[in-house]
Amino acid sequence: MREPEGSTADFLRGLRHELRTPLNHIIGYSELLLDEVAAGGPSRLAPDLDKIHAAGTDLLALVDESLAAAKADAGVVDLTALSEAVRTPLNAVVGYSGMLQEDAVELGREDLVADLRRIEEAGKQVLGLVLAVLDLGRGAAAPVLSPPTAISGPAAPPLPSVEQSADQGSLLVVDDDEANRDMLARRLVRLGYTVALAEHGRAALDRLFFELGLPSQVLATDVDESVLQHARTGLWREDDLEGVPAPVRQQLFEPLSGGRLRVRERFASIIEYRRLDLLRDPYPNRRFHLIACRNVLIYFREADRLGVVQRLVDCLDDRGILFLGSTEVLLNPGMFGLATVSPSIYRKITDER
Ligand SMILES: C[S@@+](CC[C@H](N)C(=O)[O-])C[C@H]1O[C@@H](n2cnc3c(N)ncnc32)[C@H](O)[C@@H]1O
Repeated sequence: MREPEGSTADFLRGLRHELRTPLNHIIGYSELLLDEVAAGGPSRLAPDLDKIHAAGTDLLALVDESLAAAKADAGVVDLTALSEAVRTPLNAVVGYSGMLQEDAVELGREDLVADLRRIEEAGKQVLGLVLAVLDLGRGAAAPVLSPPTAISGPAAPPLPSVEQSADQGSLLVVDDDEANRDMLARRLVRLGYTVALAEHGRAALDRLFFELGLPSQVLATDVDESVLQHARTGLWREDDLEGVPAPVRQQLFEPLSGGRLRVRERFASIIEYRRLDLLRDPYPNRRFHLIACRNVLIYFREADRLGVVQRLVDCLDDRGILFLGSTEVLLNPGMFGLATVSPSIYRKITDER
């Protein structure tokens, strides 16, 4: 047993993280391969994949138990015992994944080799750490932990096309670990989702705003030319954007001096400004995913209000969203073919009308 000393607790916490990442890769990739076998892949691979999966699960439990936060803080971690306990299952992971690569090639399933190689490399990565830990247990200086390394190896195969049952919708997977992204995305594709990937929050916002079509075009209208003129400048004050989350603000606006902001060019370029009188002009002959008409209906007489809502709904895509002001609640959204999502947000439900 070691006494807690200086940065030892930090080191142990870091070690736990360093070990868990590749162990999760071993578990995740073996599950993916077992899914593949269950879906009609080569059953000959199943027994060894089961062994790898079981070894990965045991290893993770062992690491979690031995390096639990409380133990790390108290310095009561027997690193030598831990590193010895993990060697046998680790050797099994590395050994079986190596053999399975040969089996896969023999069976004409070269497409499975990349994942098997990832398992082998994750096993070797943990073994490398274990060797370093053994040195520590013998009294050598604590090795400096590097940031988690993405597992190298051949590039991940492209995401499989959606070949499963019904389309469940689109999901964006955000994870800074490439292998985690890959594993999760492939699982979700199997479950019927269309999946996009991003390695961090900024990339995720980029994808959301400019690649996934949210939005790709914006039509901004008002009856008042001076309002449109002001909007076209793209200039706003900090106060105008109160309540807009910082990452979204950063994404859409560039800061200028004196607390002013300007809509970024790449977003400004997708906005079309047009004068439109909601009471008199013909509505655009287009379908929109989202129509935001906040605090405008309040200016209209009741009869006009109902007509405007109906015409806005007619311009919505099926399942499109209508966003009104908080005082413009629709008492009977069903009469417009709308369902309430939350107060002042409605979704078009054309099919059920
Ligand atoms: C209180 S502002 C709301 C602005 C913005 N929607 C918001 O929530 O901050 C009302 C806007 O409705 C516009 N408006 C009034 N009557 C209109 C009409 N008949 N057709 C289109 N826009 C109209 C006004 O010019 C004004 O810009």
